[in-house]
Amino acid sequence: GAPVTADITELQEGQRLIFEWRGQPIWIVKRSKAVLAALPTLDSRLRDPKSDNADQQPAYIKKASPELRSLKPEISVLVGLCTHLGCSPEIKAEIRPEPFDPEWKGGYFCPCHKSRFDMAGRVFQGVPAPTNLVVPPHYYENDTTIIIG
Ligand code: FES
Repeated sequence: GAPVTADITELQEGQRLIFEWRGQPIWIVKRSKAVLAALPTLDSRLRDPKSDNADQQPAYIKKASPELRSLKPEISVLVGLCTHLGCSPEIKAEIRPEPFDPEWKGGYFCPCHKSRFDMAGRVFQGVPAPTNLVVPPHYYENDTTIIIG
């Protein structure tokens, strides 16, 4: 498939834009400073906190930040499909208690079988999804334009 151009000019903190690449939903999310600060504190609860599974992101993403999983700290780019059976997880971008996790620091919740991921798409332990959400290949053409693919 051809690369997709994503204009993120309008993207506000806590919001998600959705694009399509190779028939898959691509999420681009702007994370708050509070959410970013919380990410490293979650490592002990996660299955692959340092992005060691090379299938789930390009090597340059892990190199840029194995915990934030992004080229720029605030902007996260993910394939929006649960790595269990492919449902579409819900975004819960704020830090607030959730019924499934009173210590929730923001992230994604898959309603199909209750898999949970943090705001870097890293999977929690003890849920059906085996791996982190996929970070697709992408780069910045300029500050507000991301090329996916
Ligand atoms: Fe997401 Fe099963 S498809 S938990």
